[in-house]
Amino acid sequence: MATAPGITQWIPLPYGYLREFLRDPIAYQLRAREQFGDVFRSRIGSLVHFLYHPDHVRRVLYDHQKNYPRGWHYRLLRNLLGDGLVASEGDHWRRQRRLAQPAFHRQRLRGYAQAMIEATSRMLARWDGTALAGSGMDIGAEMSHLTLAIAGLTLFNRDPSQDADLVGRTFGVLASYLEHRFNHPFASLPAWVPTARNRRMKDAARTLNGVVLALIRERRCEGRDRGDLLSMLMQARDEETGEVMTEDQVRSEVLTFLVAGHETTATALTWTWFLLGSHPAVRRRVREEIGRVLGDRLPTTEDVPQLIVVRMAIEESMRLYPPVWALAREAAHEDEIGGYRIPARSTVILSPFVTHRHPAFWERPEVFDLDRFTPERVAQRSKGAYFPFLGGPHQCIGNEFAMLEMGLILAMVLQRFDVELLPDPAIRPKAALTLRPSAPVQVALRRGSPNHPHQRTGAACEFSDVQSSLSGPGC
Ligand code: HEM
Repeated sequence: MATAPGITQWIPLPYGYLREFLRDPIAYQLRAREQFGDVFRSRIGSLVHFLYHPDHVRRVLYDHQKNYPRGWHYRLLRNLLGDGLVASEGDHWRRQRRLAQPAFHRQRLRGYAQAMIEATSRMLARWDGTALAGSGMDIGAEMSHLTLAIAGLTLFNRDPSQDADLVGRTFGVLASYLEHRFNHPFASLPAWVPTARNRRMKDAARTLNGVVLALIRERRCEGRDRGDLLSMLMQARDEETGEVMTEDQVRSEVLTFLVAGHETTATALTWTWFLLGSHPAVRRRVREEIGRVLGDRLPTTEDVPQLIVVRMAIEESMRLYPPVWALAREAAHEDEIGGYRIPARSTVILSPFVTHRHPAFWERPEVFDLDRFTPERVAQRSKGAYFPFLGGPHQCIGNEFAMLEMGLILAMVLQRFDVELLPDPAIRPKAALTLRPSAPVQVALRRGSPNHPHQRTGAACEFSDVQSSLSGPGC
């Protein structure tokens, strides 16, 4: 077996590729793929193979996935969140996945959709009450606020996006800690060293854990199904053993859903606005569909599958800007990929960002083109060429939830407003915890429904119209 091309010698910090990787991992990977091809090896702390060909993605995620468990990055998550789905492996992961899966069944999604519509209606009512003409709006901040509200409502029937909410504030501290650790792996001291950042993180983790445990106990004393994810996790019973989750396991999963589901969805939406906002013809096409399917009425879960162009816009946006831009796995045993040796215990990195722009699989990869996602073209495409939600056994459990949420939000906003980008040439993808825009995405909103452009819309989407199925009396 041959050794993959790339960087074979140890490179002293902070020179050469390593410095480039730390500064801009996206540019590093694009440059290295051009220079070395679909498999290249590097030394970033330890031996790493970057794999970009869809066949290699398939081998790691599907055909040979048992040889590629999650690596050290995920241990960091485990220390912070406990043994939740994103951080676990093996039998424990399998059991937790079996228990959590029913929480994402189609019937359950209908209940979550009510919370999504409720939170979006509130945001639109606030936008409606603001003087919008001509002024820019930071759509990324709005989407982050909105998806946090939705996460709180669907998880435990509470809106943590308010400034005064303890969950929202402590969650913000944890998210920025994780981001720092992932992006500056060599610059951050281990969690046990009492630096100011580590102390802040530990305080926040203690507080957040305390709040979530209190919610679990409150729910236990209440003893009824509120239709949210927390109720589902608490009721879940293993069909094989009859076991339920312990309090600690429920707490880990709740925190995992919060971390895994909030920023990914906010980032995907922000990039979708960025792209739609700068492509008026595509926006017209999307709005035309929304006008035709929905008119001025509120969407329902059943409408979302009819919004085919909306879905294609989200998929194409996640092709160009996948929120999870890279993933690491560790080879348990030696393997051969693309004719090259992958040694045991070395790291492999898959990069949705680079594979989604691979010129051999995507014609004019830089162009925003919705028609790449027509059913016919999707059916022709290699399975490993597009994987924003991953694939195989560890495929994102919140995939359908996120697609529903994004579809409803896009439809409700575009039903009421035209969203135009205020161009900023400085915006480019920045590899943070997710793939964020490097500067705030500013948009201008113009009121007007797709059927009556640039007039005030009627009473569609009024918050008071929405009866949330998630609310109920306290314990
Ligand atoms: C656009 C939005 C989202 C994207 C792009 C996304 C992407 C991903 C990816 C790439 C993974 C695989 C991570 C890995 O194994 O290394 C993953 C796993 C996961 N995601 Fe998502 N996700 C999104 C939304 C959500 C939502 C809304 C939730 C929950 C409500 C969620 C919960 C999870 C969980 C629990 C896992 C671990 C699954 C397992 O290993 O069994 N995600 N997601």
